[in-house]
Amino acid sequence: MHDIQQRLEAKRALARLGGGEKRIAAQHAKGKLTARERLELLFDEGTFEEWDMFVEHRCVDFGMQDNKIPGDGVVTGYGMINGRLAFSFSQDFTVFGGALSESHAEKICKVMDQAMKVGAPVIGLNDSGGARIQEGVASLGGYADVFQKNVLASGVIPQISMIMGPCAGGAVYSPAMTDFIFMVKDSSYMFVTGPEVVKTVTHEEVTAEELGGAISHTSKSGVADLAFDNDVEAILMLRRFFNYLPLNNREKAPTRPSGDPGNRLDRSLDTLVPENANKPYDMKELLLKVVDDGDFFELQPDYAKNIITGFARMEGQSVGIVANQPLVLAGCLDIKSSIKAARFVRFCDAFNIPVLTFVDVPGFMPGTAQEYGGIIKHGAKLLYAYAECTVPKVTVITRKAYGGAYDVMSSKHLRGDVNFAWPNAEIAVMGAKGAVEIIFREDKGDPEKLAAKEAEYKARFANPFVAGARGFIDDVIQPHETRKRICRSLAMLKNKKLENPWRKHGNIPL
Ligand code: HXC
Repeated sequence: MHDIQQRLEAKRALARLGGGEKRIAAQHAKGKLTARERLELLFDEGTFEEWDMFVEHRCVDFGMQDNKIPGDGVVTGYGMINGRLAFSFSQDFTVFGGALSESHAEKICKVMDQAMKVGAPVIGLNDSGGARIQEGVASLGGYADVFQKNVLASGVIPQISMIMGPCAGGAVYSPAMTDFIFMVKDSSYMFVTGPEVVKTVTHEEVTAEELGGAISHTSKSGVADLAFDNDVEAILMLRRFFNYLPLNNREKAPTRPSGDPGNRLDRSLDTLVPENANKPYDMKELLLKVVDDGDFFELQPDYAKNIITGFARMEGQSVGIVANQPLVLAGCLDIKSSIKAARFVRFCDAFNIPVLTFVDVPGFMPGTAQEYGGIIKHGAKLLYAYAECTVPKVTVITRKAYGGAYDVMSSKHLRGDVNFAWPNAEIAVMGAKGAVEIIFREDKGDPEKLAAKEAEYKARFANPFVAGARGFIDDVIQPHETRKRICRSLAMLKNKKLENPWRKHGNIPL
């Protein structure tokens, strides 16, 4: 018996060593943690249960039959994050560069299947050279098996990808189908084709970092949600982020006790919006003053900055926030911001997280770049997302809500549950100047008359009471009581039930 136990421990020690001391040192020299060190940080101390430590690849080509490392380049299992269950796979770059073999893929699929059965999120820590070259098509099949499971799990359990090393070729499509992608600066990259192929095909010279590094994907492509300075920061922030999410689509948004009173007033909000409607202000200041403890977890902060998305809590309950940002492009909706917000709203809807929307939008961005880029289809994504969304929806118009953008931004007409406006809100088809120039085109040569008409239009339409008179706005509220009114609305909406008609799936304008 004793002998067997010793053999077991020896086998375990071999698996824990992965690709060996030298490769572990090389990993550390790059400023990266090993697969197991990452899991130790991710899960509450001593809670990680590892599976499939003894799995080996089955490849017999290129001398691989004599080159087997138990675990085969990925550490899989489950554990607790702040006391809540999560599954994870962590690719081990010290073993064949973390490359994905058939067995490696089977290990990932196994934890995904189990996570689906028990209803718990899957967190992928990606650090891999891609398909295991020695295995050829068997490896490609393994990738496709993972992709298929990603899709079936989508909207059922949250899936989070942390990119902590290379992620190239078709391998990028598994993270791409998960709900959130986080990256580590300077040590991770994602691209479909690397710099060498790019040079051959398009004659562009670009480094891996420029092409697919964390900064490129969080500011230019919008593929990734957040970039972190190093592995430790990334994993600690992931643990924080995890607290906002339910474990699966049958659970309600999680709550955490908060000492911040729901009826807290903030008088400084009464002067946040400048008198001059053309002057910007920082919407983030409003968000920080309204949410619990000023704690807002922003996503994609460097991409499509004209819209803000992220998670916060109201009286302890997780909420998703979407807000126009008047500081950037006057807060207008364009292609990027519509896609960014639409995907976020759909995540919240899939996982029972109420959506809070703060509106100050002058309309959709005009111009050929937007029209040729397909703003009609992309703007429709956000419209579609809000319209199909059945979770509690609370909307506050802080200033402008013009044109189609008024409709899109969680309006009453798209089944907004509670729609508030601040007293200075302007809810109309368009701004007074533009409106008058169209209606009174014949008075173009008479600036005095036009100015008078503009003032008349402003007085008549640039307020919240026309919408209020029709019930499109439930109440016009004082800015300082915004938090109180939202908290009451969310409490009222706690048991909201709303279902869309049965269908196989809708056809969102992709
Ligand atoms: C097998 C691999 C491997 C791979 C790396 N290794 N990638 N083994 N299959 N795909 C091994 C190396 O041989 C090496 O083994 C160890 O991992 C570390 O690799 P290095 O090259 O020394 O590391 P580094 O210099 O950091 O470079 C990392 C790298 C590079 C940029 C990822 O290894 C690389 O370019 N690998 C090939 C990437 C690739 O073309 N993959 C296929 C992409 S196509 P030793 O024994 O020396 O430590 C793809 C399609 C997916 O993935 C399709 C899905 C549908």
